[in-house]
Amino acid sequence: MEQAGGGASLGLYGLGTMGAALALNILEKGFPLHVANRTAARTPAFLDAAGPLAGRATGHESLPAMVAAMPAPRALILMVDAGPAVDQSIEAALPHLAPGDIVADCGNADFHDTRRRAAALAARGIRFLGVGVSGGEEGARHGPAIMAGGEPDAWAALEPVLSAIAARHEGEPCAALLGPDGAGHFVKTVHNGIEYADMQLIAEVYGLLRHGMNRPPAAIASLFARWNGGRLRSYLVEITAEVLAATDPATGGPVVDVILDRAGQKGTGRWTVIEALRLGQSASAIEAAVAARAWSAEKPSREAGEAILGSPRQPVDLPEDALEGALLAGRIVAYAQGFRILQAASAEYGWNTDMARVAETWRAGCIIRSALLADIAAAFRAGDLPQGQLLLSPAFAADLRAALPALRRTVAAAALGGHPVPALSAALAFADTMAQARGTADLIQAQRDYFGRHGFVRLDTGTAGQHGPWAG
Ligand code: 6PG
Repeated sequence: MEQAGGGASLGLYGLGTMGAALALNILEKGFPLHVANRTAARTPAFLDAAGPLAGRATGHESLPAMVAAMPAPRALILMVDAGPAVDQSIEAALPHLAPGDIVADCGNADFHDTRRRAAALAARGIRFLGVGVSGGEEGARHGPAIMAGGEPDAWAALEPVLSAIAARHEGEPCAALLGPDGAGHFVKTVHNGIEYADMQLIAEVYGLLRHGMNRPPAAIASLFARWNGGRLRSYLVEITAEVLAATDPATGGPVVDVILDRAGQKGTGRWTVIEALRLGQSASAIEAAVAARAWSAEKPSREAGEAILGSPRQPVDLPEDALEGALLAGRIVAYAQGFRILQAASAEYGWNTDMARVAETWRAGCIIRSALLADIAAAFRAGDLPQGQLLLSPAFAADLRAALPALRRTVAAAALGGHPVPALSAALAFADTMAQARGTADLIQAQRDYFGRHGFVRLDTGTAGQHGPWAG
């Protein structure tokens, strides 16, 4: 039987959907595993359902009972809801943990919490890993992407298990240590921010086809399936095709038509935007996606709005390749903005995160896996990013130059036809801004100086602290 590295005994707490799937994955890869759950009855149910894999598992009544029974050194994997449940679990396990043990939080934690927990546990000699796991239930069961943050020795102890259960891209495990303390959870947060943007971009293109071009969902499904054979190849485009092709057994109509148009969100997209702003960045395509989810939740206002203002929707006429190009350009901007935030956070927190490694980790298993990621990894490996901007690396600059006219045409047609495309519009504004050496912030600086004597830099002399000839 295999052991976690360093001979640590391995325990997993939290047998919900994701926890149970991850536990089965670990058992299947040959690692013995202690398991427990807050509702104790779920543990024997899990063992029953595990079939022959249960032979390598030991069930326990509770978290403290499990940790007390595990031989030292211990590695405890937490699969509980992000937030207070993580602190409560650590609290409950702590009396039975000893210096040298490892706690790995595999939920979608806020990286600030991860930094706090890592510091608190380090003071007691306990090593903490903040591990982002992506891929939903299917990924957890058969191969997620794994983004870890923590100390190298703690990673070394768990790496054999985490690499064994991770997704593989051309044989290479999609599991990596991406920096200390909160780095892994931050990378997972930004992953989710990009996920929000990509989903929103896809939804906007769907909206134009459905409401602007009157295409039925099944026809849109075929189009997405075709696009998935090209540069847009990705998990999210693939599942969109499947979702749109699905029929509701109760009505016989498309499933998408019986779903309330209010999007849920658990917070990771919002955290990405908040952190971007804190870091002096603006991930506008991600921000647009978060905003669109918030607006979607205002269903009664939208209903009242349609009655009072009248729906602005008009038919649009766009060739399919314009929509395909728009989606590609939007996706490139979303990735580029995501990596910008990661670079800024890595510099701010001293994580030294290897961006190529991040892209490599996202190539398989995770929700945003796509054909672009191998090229993103290659661009970072080659260090071929003028000003650190992914948009300007040769591969993506060529893509963007080719796809920008399609994005522009799509956004213009959408605006004229009254179809909101906030993420596509944000992506276009970002790309257009980045393509202009001289913008309009000269006027902003003049205004700031006018009312607050904030000073500006003169272009001709390069001198700072200059003031305009304003009266008063
Ligand atoms: C993943 C997903 C996963 C989860 C998100 C969804 O990478 O596997 O991102 O973590 O589905 O939490 O987030 P929202 O509920 O906020 O859409």
